[in-house]
Amino acid sequence: MGKKILVTGGTGYIGSHTVVELINAHHEVVILDNLYNSGISVLDGIRDITGVKPEFHQIDLCDKERLDAFFAGRDDIDSVIHFAAYKAVGESAEKPLMYYHNNLNSTLNLLDAMIRHGISNIVFSSSCTVYGEPDKLPVDEQAPVKEPSSPYGNTKQVNEQMIRFTVEAGHPIRGISLRYFNPIGAHPSAKIGEAPQGIPNNLLPYITQTAFGIREKLKVFGNDYDTPDGTPIRDYINVVDLSKAHVVAIERLIDQKNKKGYEFFNIGTGRGHTVLEVIQAFERATGQKINHQIVARRPGDVEKVYADTTAANQELGWKAEKTLEETLLSAWNWEKAYRQNKNEQ
Ligand code: WQD
Repeated sequence: MGKKILVTGGTGYIGSHTVVELINAHHEVVILDNLYNSGISVLDGIRDITGVKPEFHQIDLCDKERLDAFFAGRDDIDSVIHFAAYKAVGESAEKPLMYYHNNLNSTLNLLDAMIRHGISNIVFSSSCTVYGEPDKLPVDEQAPVKEPSSPYGNTKQVNEQMIRFTVEAGHPIRGISLRYFNPIGAHPSAKIGEAPQGIPNNLLPYITQTAFGIREKLKVFGNDYDTPDGTPIRDYINVVDLSKAHVVAIERLIDQKNKKGYEFFNIGTGRGHTVLEVIQAFERATGQKINHQIVARRPGDVEKVYADTTAANQELGWKAEKTLEETLLSAWNWEKAYRQNKNEQ
């Protein structure tokens, strides 16, 4: 039975893909987003895919009054999926207070409002960055949370703990954190995707912009790591697969199938790939050569991290399905569609 689900950050990269999957699963969606790192045209992309243009409110969760006004007088929201946050690792190191203010106050205000308005279920967008450089690979949920390598990663750890301790204090909250590995790719329709502002920090948008000719060449940050080809290993997960994990998680809470008030799951493919393997797979999948050059390591990068997904597979009944090549092709198709759309505007 479909429910009405609030999605904060719902016009963002992972948020918008999750909105599509929620609608496909016959839920109704309300999006709150301040459009700091996304455009309102994403709503048209969601409508083109699903036939539904979700209710949208441009609200910053840090604006307590606006958030309260949104909730006042409505009792139709059943659950929340919380994406809204700043998420650039490097920027967080330059502007830590901006990250702490935004990423912590937004969640504090949201939890306060949920408790005041009798909304219990929250799925939180977390990150494998909480594990830092894991001692054991693949990394499972028993792995210790490490000293954060960035303010961004620290805000993810603190957000998880805020939810956990609110649950343990006996407040009427049930939470699930999903610890993403490296989300990549785009919806197969190429109607929505990742649209980073400015110079991309992440590997995939930099690859697709290089393929498109916007970037002259891709810098590969170091090939002297202890990996098969010397470049770092990550667990690259298709964004549609990742989005489906959010539907499964929120329905677990709605159907009260959760075993504890607070749970967390690693959401990855369970396989690791090096940077050069991703470049080679992209070239195979798209026929586009990627001009690249090995340069010095990027400070803060971990050498190897990829997920043990047993818990998500067994407890959530969720598994990543799309192949790396299919995912890389979807990223390329989105880049071309996005640029053509921009040129036509
Ligand atoms: C992947 C690999 C780089 C760019 C971060 C956050 C994580 C999540 C995803 C938000 C690394 C290499 C990259 C480039 C390169 N963030 N690389 N040249 O750092 O694994 O994870 O983004 O949800 O929480 O920690 O992702 O895509 O930046 O890097 O060689 O121009 O690609 O060194 O090995 P990362 P990334």
